[in-house]
Amino acid sequence: LVDPKKIEYVISNHTEMDHSGGLPILMHLIGQDKPVYCSKMGYRNLTGHFGDKFNLQAVDKDTELNIGSRTLSFLETRMAHWPDSMFTIVNEDDILFSSDAFGQHYAGWERFDDQVGDAIMPHALKYYANILLPYSPRIAKLIVQVAEAGLNPKIICPDHGVLWRENPSKIIEAYSRWAAQKPSKKAVVVYDTMWESTRKMAEAIVDGLIEENVETQCMRLRTIHRSDAITEIMEAGAVLIGSPTLNNGLFPTVSDFLCYMKGLRPRNKLAAAFGSYGWTGESIKLITAELEAMKLELIDPGLSIHWVPDDNGLKKCFELGRKVGRALAGIER
Ligand code: FEO
Repeated sequence: LVDPKKIEYVISNHTEMDHSGGLPILMHLIGQDKPVYCSKMGYRNLTGHFGDKFNLQAVDKDTELNIGSRTLSFLETRMAHWPDSMFTIVNEDDILFSSDAFGQHYAGWERFDDQVGDAIMPHALKYYANILLPYSPRIAKLIVQVAEAGLNPKIICPDHGVLWRENPSKIIEAYSRWAAQKPSKKAVVVYDTMWESTRKMAEAIVDGLIEENVETQCMRLRTIHRSDAITEIMEAGAVLIGSPTLNNGLFPTVSDFLCYMKGLRPRNKLAAAFGSYGWTGESIKLITAELEAMKLELIDPGLSIHWVPDDNGLKKCFELGRKVGRALAGIER
């Protein structure tokens, strides 16, 4: 599009290497002395990654950069997704370059939301659940900040996925909803199993939830990716985690998932543990401790079953599902 030597300056909205990893070669091509505009935290982070070899210039909300026929403004957006993140706004055209915010993990031939249609929203939801969920309180404040700044972008250009031009307010409204972490009448049963006993428990719990007319997802960790499980959990009102006890601990896939889930800080959910065991049965205690650490509301002390669930054991699982379902009764789907 342009001879690199004619590029006069660079805007770095975010230091993370999926955004700035190409900076050294870019600066080599356009000239090492050209200014690189970034937030104050960006200045620190870029220096931390590349040393002091670039001409970094920190900007803030009061900076207006004249680039000829247009001017650029900036808005610090800390923790969306790193402390250094910022938005760049093309004032005359109402174009918002939003870095990680409003992105999707989507790579297709399309460049704009209207080319994909409503099918883009699940990608945006999955992106939020796996990238931005832990920062939901800050995202909620950011949405207010955007409104207060009078920003009403005609086009939002995230660094991931397609650009929002058909109705940019749609993704802003979705972020407002997701950041609130309002629970819905939905339960997700996430489990793994060694000799199928915990699977039988999971399926009986699902039957109990469905009996109470609750939208239910049942996910076995060895057959799905953890990012899909957290996407389902994000808007759910309840999550039930199941693991057999293996060598006095958790089944490895469940341990992995709990570690991932805890880091993403889901909130406002009922929770319970279940699982089978042969000798000692620590899995319930270990899962429950993790759910407590996540500040989820334990609805049951946990259900463990020795060896294989018999009819009575399956009934207990079914009743656990019903108990969770009844607790979700007052919540909208
Ligand atoms: Fe925070 Fe797209 O990296």
